[in-house]
Amino acid sequence: MENGGTCIWFVILSSKEIKKDKPIGVVRFGKDIVLWRDENGKVNAIEDFCVHRRARLSAGKVVNGRLQYPFHGFEYDGNGRVKLIPALGRSYNVSERFSVKAYNVAEKAGMVWMRFDDGEPKGEQGSLKTYTKNSPTQGCENSGMFLS
Ligand code: FES
Repeated sequence: MENGGTCIWFVILSSKEIKKDKPIGVVRFGKDIVLWRDENGKVNAIEDFCVHRRARLSAGKVVNGRLQYPFHGFEYDGNGRVKLIPALGRSYNVSERFSVKAYNVAEKAGMVWMRFDDGEPKGEQGSLKTYTKNSPTQGCENSGMFLS
């Protein structure tokens, strides 16, 4: 939901856990997620599997801001789209169907936040505390929770 709707953001990592040029794989709310920083330092988060043979993307590396899986070299952007399939050549226009889910993330207060909305896991209420200060809730009436 945008502009006044309720959004739920959860802290999923400390910012310092995402190193330059090195993806990190995590499991949050039952989802396998890989995160990395692009060439501008922006954090990206997508599903942690390759559309080709479902290998773990977190075993890959960051190349020119994209996440590259080493086996066959598929490269993913922050939207979860495969932008390069080396075997087909650098000029090949990869179909949008070669993509995985991308998650909405933001960095605030030294933490990486992920937004979960309708249809996404909300986490265990008992393990969460409400967080109302400096949370990345632009466009939201309320929210911000973080793992205690
Ligand atoms: S398994 Fe991902 S590029 Fe082949």
